[in-house]
Amino acid sequence: MDPLVAAIDQGTSSTRFLVFNAKTAELISQHQVEINQSFPKEGWVEEDPKEIMQSVYECMERTCEKLYQLNIDVSNIKAVGVTNQRETTLVWDKETGEPLYNAIVWLDLRTQSTVERLISKAPGKNKNHLKHKTGLPISTYFSAVKLRWLLDNVDEVQQAVLSERAMFGTVDSWIIWCLTGGRSGGVHCTDVSNASRTMLFNIHTMNWDPELCRYFDVPMEILPKVRSSSEIYGFMKSGSLAGVPISGCLGDQSAALVGQMCLKEGQAKNTYGTGCFLLRNTGTKPVMSDHGLLTTVAYKMGKEESACYALEGSVAIAGAVVRWLKDNMGIVKSSSEIETLAAAAGSSYGCYFVPAFSGLYAPYWEPSARGIICGLTQFTNRNHLAFAALEAVCFQTREILDAMNLDSGVPLTQLKVDGGMTSNRLLMQLQADILCMPVARPTMAETTALGAAMAAGAAEGVDVWDLSVDHLPHVMREKYEPQINSDESEYRFARWKKAVQKAMNWET
Ligand code: G3P
Repeated sequence: MDPLVAAIDQGTSSTRFLVFNAKTAELISQHQVEINQSFPKEGWVEEDPKEIMQSVYECMERTCEKLYQLNIDVSNIKAVGVTNQRETTLVWDKETGEPLYNAIVWLDLRTQSTVERLISKAPGKNKNHLKHKTGLPISTYFSAVKLRWLLDNVDEVQQAVLSERAMFGTVDSWIIWCLTGGRSGGVHCTDVSNASRTMLFNIHTMNWDPELCRYFDVPMEILPKVRSSSEIYGFMKSGSLAGVPISGCLGDQSAALVGQMCLKEGQAKNTYGTGCFLLRNTGTKPVMSDHGLLTTVAYKMGKEESACYALEGSVAIAGAVVRWLKDNMGIVKSSSEIETLAAAAGSSYGCYFVPAFSGLYAPYWEPSARGIICGLTQFTNRNHLAFAALEAVCFQTREILDAMNLDSGVPLTQLKVDGGMTSNRLLMQLQADILCMPVARPTMAETTALGAAMAAGAAEGVDVWDLSVDHLPHVMREKYEPQINSDESEYRFARWKKAVQKAMNWET
């Protein structure tokens, strides 16, 4: 039996555990559990850290049962990687092992006034005031402001800091700490890709930055140790995989970049999950954007390896708009139904939907923007709304792709895509039409988990598949070619941009 490598993929909407053949990259087995989100106040988004861990344990155990049913011995799993929703912020008590508040999800807007205050106090009211160190604009998106909120508003967090019991982490840290023993010696760490999303990390020195910590008034002793993305952090303490090393850790967008084999400078991918994230590998040099993109640490594949960076265009709402149409509006019964409705419409007939539920991220970084639907007539029905929602995902991608091309000067000639929404063929065709560019989807779309499994396998000395082989399922691609002319595409994009202006200035 070939060795196996596995990954925990803890995303915003669900947790999964996936097992791959280390030689062929074939997906052998997997299990998925949905994660509940709560919205305690307008703009707030939280998840329960215990539910997150429960879902991790459940996914691992159920996948192991499935392997037994396939007559595969779980001892063939040589390494496990962790990949996760980034920026989501947790604080827990290292002595009791209890979370001290819910996880504040990356999409959460409760820090909008803090962000506005910080920007108004910055020299020249410049939201990019800290970008030279962090690669990021001051925004509600990143962990530092969420942690500040917890320190200011949750008594238990304040008490735990005072009595030296508090641990801060993003979701990767929480998972690794729990799996390696929790309060009985769990390892408190994160990797460079996750650390670079906190706004407390200096992306040049690759360390927590004392000045940034002072700026946000965050005690450095509660921060996890920053490690590379591929090394042994610790070993599973319990369950069917007890003793297996945890040896890969990557933020989910970095993991998808690795899983898509975008390991060379200039290579890029776009992942359609809860949000949508276009990353372009810029090699070992951080490139600063002039067009509203982030500079982020993509990965560091081993303690002694150099870090690689990426330019990133982040869109907050992609798959989340489908979930909203389902859960909040009841317009679709299942996520997959949106394709049927949109196909029945065939066009939005002039309806534009800007789902700025969490403000607008790249390239605008405008926390006060709010969602709008415009261009409605009596003719408009739910099918047109479904179409407009899918088009919104494609227009947002077009905006970040345009910014990426302006920043890099070397335009992409095709877009490599992955993530749950890419199984929607209509969406893929629309994307090719709106970009006027081919869109290429791997035949195995689980590239996020694959990237984390690769990082884990590499650290454990597992001979991870031969990267030069181009028939592996994550390298073979299904292509969508544009089917409309560029005038039509430009016309629709120009109207979308007008709608965006309205979403940004809806109060005036
Ligand atoms: O930065 C947020 C991102 O990591 C979330 O990814 O897959 O849950 O949309 P996803």
